[in-house]
Amino acid sequence: MKTTAGNTYQRMSDQKETMTPSGQDDRGLKKLLTHTRLYDFFQNHVLGGKKARTWLAKNFWRLRGGETVIDLGCGSGTVLEYLPEDIDYLGVDISENYVRAARQRFSERGRFFLGSVGDFLNQDDQRKGTADVVLCNGLLHHLPDDEAIEVLELSKRIMKPDGRLVCLEATYLAHQTRISKWIVSTDRGRCVRSEQEWKDLLGRVFNCYSTWILTGLIRIPYTHIVIECVNDQLSDAQSKR
Ligand SMILES: C[S@@+](CC[C@H](N)C(=O)[O-])C[C@H]1O[C@@H](n2cnc3c(N)ncnc32)[C@H](O)[C@@H]1O
Repeated sequence: MKTTAGNTYQRMSDQKETMTPSGQDDRGLKKLLTHTRLYDFFQNHVLGGKKARTWLAKNFWRLRGGETVIDLGCGSGTVLEYLPEDIDYLGVDISENYVRAARQRFSERGRFFLGSVGDFLNQDDQRKGTADVVLCNGLLHHLPDDEAIEVLELSKRIMKPDGRLVCLEATYLAHQTRISKWIVSTDRGRCVRSEQEWKDLLGRVFNCYSTWILTGLIRIPYTHIVIECVNDQLSDAQSKR
């Protein structure tokens, strides 16, 4: 059991007790990645994250400035380096280390909430319907279905009627080389899904979503899925009439 942001946060089966409350596998060498500088170095300089994020910013996040952005599982807030200066940014993360680093680096660019995504909305319902873009990079593949659904539902609540949710996650392909499948399976996230499983999950919350499979986004043979969901509250309401 662990307390975050004043709320009791209890999850994980006995088998997963060696993991952090975020459902992250931090055993062995992976523990090194809980140190913010090592994580950022690994992402940027080993995996080629800078180039990847620059490409994602241009092709999927597509921010022009002036938007309200909520970043779920924001880590150390690195995404801010790739977004326009004049956005209203709020990051949410359950890791004290990452949020401390984010506040040190980016206190002038955004605000950061320490706690789970669930904690965040329970404490801040004023956020309902305010986000132009909800970002969710690398969070959902840490969460089992029920918690991932909760995050998708909360995202839907905080998006404006014309808002977007954009996620980048690890995925398995229907057919993939053994080495690539093995590398994806070593991810710290314990809930990497196949493309079809991602679609099934999304379909439980959103009527309108698109997915793209990316191979070669980073320097190792890894497979990602980009997910974009649009807020279909208006069309939901119309179809229920
Ligand atoms: C793979 S990291 C991605 C970090 C960042 N989005 C990036 O792209 O560098 C996943 C992040 O999700 C956070 N996380 C995991 N479970 C969470 C939860 N239930 N609520 C909020 N953050 C969570 C972890 O602490 C970690 O920072």
